[in-house]
Amino acid sequence: MMEHIRITKRVKNTPTVVSLYFKWNVKVLPGQFVMVWVPGYGEVPMSLSQTEDEKCITVKAYGDSTKKLIETEAGEWIFLRGPYGKPFSSTSGNKLLIGGGSGMASLKPLIDRNTTGIIASRTFDELLFSDEFDEDHRIEVTEDGKKGIKGIVTDGIEAVNPEDFSMIYVCGPEKMLKAVYDKIKKLNVNAEFSMERSMKCGIGLCDSCSVDGFQVCVDGPVFNMKQLNGMTEFGTTRLLSSGKRVKI
Ligand code: FES
Repeated sequence: MMEHIRITKRVKNTPTVVSLYFKWNVKVLPGQFVMVWVPGYGEVPMSLSQTEDEKCITVKAYGDSTKKLIETEAGEWIFLRGPYGKPFSSTSGNKLLIGGGSGMASLKPLIDRNTTGIIASRTFDELLFSDEFDEDHRIEVTEDGKKGIKGIVTDGIEAVNPEDFSMIYVCGPEKMLKAVYDKIKKLNVNAEFSMERSMKCGIGLCDSCSVDGFQVCVDGPVFNMKQLNGMTEFGTTRLLSSGKRVKI
């Protein structure tokens, strides 16, 4: 059922990323997503960056719908339905979160004192939510080299021993997910990856989100190493909303 929800606060996190806060008395688990309807533009799947009573979606302007959505001001209303999809598994041990670009948004609800973050972005001013981690649990990686380690996300993994963590959670552009997967797949680690695909229904009916026989909206968006191991489309191709398959 579509809900009509009032935005209570708008925070600009980076030059291209905005967080929209709202009260919504529905249980949402970290990693699950909602479908946000932008009138005149369509629906976009969004993970929540805050899952308590006060909830939050963190939006990066990619396409027309998200460009419109980030213009939403406090006091205005949005439409959403959900939550949908499989959440991240919980663990009581220490966690490593690896987030590229706006991917750290869906990992943010997992942050606690036992959490280390590798936060990666192209430019220093697009590092998202790195302040949420304790200073000694934060590894920043930028391609422009203006903050943290100069390089890409896999260079940040060199700064830790992935096998020291009870669970690794990864979210970001799919090329980044694949690079992380390739780097850690031979190690003795547990890891989960949040995957993005074009979504229309969000509930397993339209098949627009299919990957190697999985439906990302129902079987994901969170997948573990074992599931990814058999996927030939992971990191290689995806379907556009038009149905055309393109290279990633
Ligand atoms: S979005 Fe329709 S089946 Fe997944």
